[in-house]
Amino acid sequence: MKAIVVKDEAAGTAGMTLVETAEPPAAINDVVVQVHASGFVPTELEWPSTWTDRADHDRTPTIPGHEMAGVVTTLGYGATGLSVGQRVFGLTDWHRDGTMAEYVAVEARNLAPLPGDVDFTVGASLPISGLTAWQGLFEHGRLQAGQSVLAHGAAGAVGAMVIQLAREAGAYVIATGRTADRHKTFDFGAQEFVDLDNDTLADVGAVDLVFDVIDGDIRKRSAGLDFVVESDRAQLGEIVQRVRDGRLRTNIGGIAALDDAAAALNPAERISGQTIIHVRS
Ligand SMILES: NC(=O)c1ccc[n+]([C@@H]2O[C@H](COP(=O)([O-])OP(=O)(O)OC[C@H]3O[C@@H](n4cnc5c(N)ncnc54)[C@H](OP(=O)(O)O)[C@@H]3O)[C@@H](O)[C@H]2O)c1
Repeated sequence: MKAIVVKDEAAGTAGMTLVETAEPPAAINDVVVQVHASGFVPTELEWPSTWTDRADHDRTPTIPGHEMAGVVTTLGYGATGLSVGQRVFGLTDWHRDGTMAEYVAVEARNLAPLPGDVDFTVGASLPISGLTAWQGLFEHGRLQAGQSVLAHGAAGAVGAMVIQLAREAGAYVIATGRTADRHKTFDFGAQEFVDLDNDTLADVGAVDLVFDVIDGDIRKRSAGLDFVVESDRAQLGEIVQRVRDGRLRTNIGGIAALDDAAAALNPAERISGQTIIHVRS
């Protein structure tokens, strides 16, 4: 199968190479999915799990990309809840080969059915951004109607989901980002915008919840907890239902074929929104 691999951490996305490699076997509880579309998080080549397995052994060359939409082709021993030929979407294991490939092996429990009226491109863009926003707002943040949310980096993939889900839950949303992001965050439903390049964040005053995807100095200004997004079939179902009935839009900034993925993920100019890789057209 064709896949994008990385071998050299220092090279970053510029080190992505298109190769021919073996299709993954289905391990216990896995399904193998023929990937139609794959997402990529801009920072994933900085994550330790991209380079080592759970025992901290080098696992390069590795296939990046940890969210996808596709069709189940094989059921491994013990895999339940899904069937061959089923359309699915979801999150894949951080420590295993990922989704920028024609096939990926993933535990069945990490996937959810993708309804026939949601295309694969949209499906691939939902798991990481949608689950991160959902879990941050509702599980970790315990957001209630009437509360205020400060959403940093709100014009990005996660941020756009944060704005929309928080608004739907009855929160007041103050978005932050770069000067050029103002209109986009209003378009996703933000009620105020703080231009981090020009405005003073302290002027915002107290808020109930800060959702920070930017890190750095901003983090030091608020108390909080770190979390890593987890697979959750029921939450994926909630998210995709909102997409179907128009309550939720994804933030896709570009689409590229697998053959062009390395170039597309190394853009010469800033792209606002997520780049989705079309693996199969
Ligand atoms: N812990 C978890 O489970 C989890 C899950 C998902 C994502 N994440 C993390 O969340 C982050 C965002 O992910 P994403 O997919 O939403 O990325 P993204 O689509 O690139 O969005 C990030 C947004 O924040 C903006 N931004 C970054 N630094 C900024 C700064 N200093 N001032 C103003 N704006 C700034 C970006 O603008 P520019 O493009 O101009 O920089 C972009 O609009 C990543 O670091 C990712 O690793 C964590």
